Amino acid sequence: MKFALSDKTPDSLATDCLVVFLGKQDKSLPPVFPEATRKQVSRLIKDGDFSAAASTHLVHQPEGLKARRLLLARTGSDKPLNASAWLRCASGVAKAVAATGAKRASVCLPDKLVAVDDPADLAALTVRALGDSAYRFDSYRSKTPPAASLTGWTLLVSDKAAGMSRAVKQAQAMVAGADLARDLGNQPPNVCHPEYLVGVARDLERQYDKLKATVISEKQAEKMGMGAFCAVARGSEHDGKLIALEYRGAAGRPVALVGKGITFDTGGISLKPGAAMDEMKYDMCGAASVFGVMKAVCEMDLPIHLVMVVAAAENMPDGRASRPGDIVKTLSGQTVEILNTDAEGRLVLCDALTWTQQKFKPHTIVDVATLTGACVVALGSHAQAVYSNDDTLSQQLLAAGEATGDRGWPMPLWDDYQEQLDSPFADMANIGGPKGGSITAACFLSRFAEEVKWAHLDIAGTAWVSGGKQKGATGRPVPMLTRFLMDMKKKSA
Ligand code: BES
Ligand code: MN
Ligand code: ZN
Repeated sequence: MKFALSDKTPDSLATDCLVVFLGKQDKSLPPVFPEATRKQVSRLIKDGDFSAAASTHLVHQPEGLKARRLLLARTGSDKPLNASAWLRCASGVAKAVAATGAKRASVCLPDKLVAVDDPADLAALTVRALGDSAYRFDSYRSKTPPAASLTGWTLLVSDKAAGMSRAVKQAQAMVAGADLARDLGNQPPNVCHPEYLVGVARDLERQYDKLKATVISEKQAEKMGMGAFCAVARGSEHDGKLIALEYRGAAGRPVALVGKGITFDTGGISLKPGAAMDEMKYDMCGAASVFGVMKAVCEMDLPIHLVMVVAAAENMPDGRASRPGDIVKTLSGQTVEILNTDAEGRLVLCDALTWTQQKFKPHTIVDVATLTGACVVALGSHAQAVYSNDDTLSQQLLAAGEATGDRGWPMPLWDDYQEQLDSPFADMANIGGPKGGSITAACFLSRFAEEVKWAHLDIAGTAWVSGGKQKGATGRPVPMLTRFLMDMKKKSA
């Protein structure tokens, strides 16, 4: 999707479809529209053709405009929308415009209808909503569906300030990052296995000068003492891999992002029930999202030092697979009793966290994982769980989520929960019982990030949409994390 900015008045713009937003109770167009168009729309609203409850209404050959069609759209509220509500609203409009068959469309950015500090933020959010709506995944159909007719958007802004076009470019980079994350998530698990993710890292390394890849094989991991990672990887025909990409856009200690990359989670010997098990191909969405953030950062050429590490393995039942009761030694030296082989995410992540600290000495680590079903019960699919051993870090992630409409919600990491992980035989068990499952999983990880500022995002509810036809990866939390990195730069600059 192409994006352009224009400060023309709406009447002078030649376009297939011009979109204008109104608040819930608005009865006429904003004054920048010519008298004839305003009259036509007021009449239409008076006649009940575009009620307060309606979401969109299409006007063909509108009076007083060069545009061929005018799409009226309601935000559905009397109050300014927050970022998430605006993303939803603008996505709905993108679908309505695509359905008109328009090739080039334009949209008047409604500064007053959305709660943003800066008009550039509104432009960025809009580009993301429109860009994300154009996403398709049909590389596996034997007959490729016809290409979408809509190829470009023009954003009408009152002031074409320099910050605007930068914001649009950055939003496009975020869309590119989220698209990569969605593509990786949607890949079938017979294609997307750990070696495939190594290929993704190598491709990015070739594409961007500032990147350097490091890959640790399962055999090397074993030698190095990553007993927990290998306990998960050993049951699969596909070799487990630890994949790192280092982006050097600045000197100094890096920020590290660590992603859970279970390319398929059967549960292992603690086998999952069959219903909807196909969705466990999405158990590498943490990894997919850190690849996506890396891509967005490379596209933006941010002046930061960033590392991403992916713990890639397939959790399968097999003659060599781990059993409930096995005790393994982690790279940190701590021992773990595996009581449930389906709690594998924390096992691959704990060794990845230790290795990341040893190898890259980051000042901050954020791990991202589709870690627990309990998180979906707690927060549903709107917010990712945010855990941290540092309040400032937690606040920064939450603020970045709020600003990008990719929201998180803070969860406790109190010591009180830690004793649920006690094991009679090892330093800890890998499960903490039925209560507070997302929290005890985070407590487990916290034991492997004691000397560093660390946060953990449980994205089990936000990384993909379940069910029938609309099933698919969302690309979250690429926007939250990318914005977090952009803001961090601003603060230190
Ligand atoms: N990948 C799953 C978590 C998951 C389940 C995410 C469903 C999204 C939807 C994870 O590996 C897992 O199986 N977790 C277990 C942990 C339990 C055994 C302590 C879970 O949540 O049931
Ligand atoms: Mn599992
Ligand atoms: Zn899993």
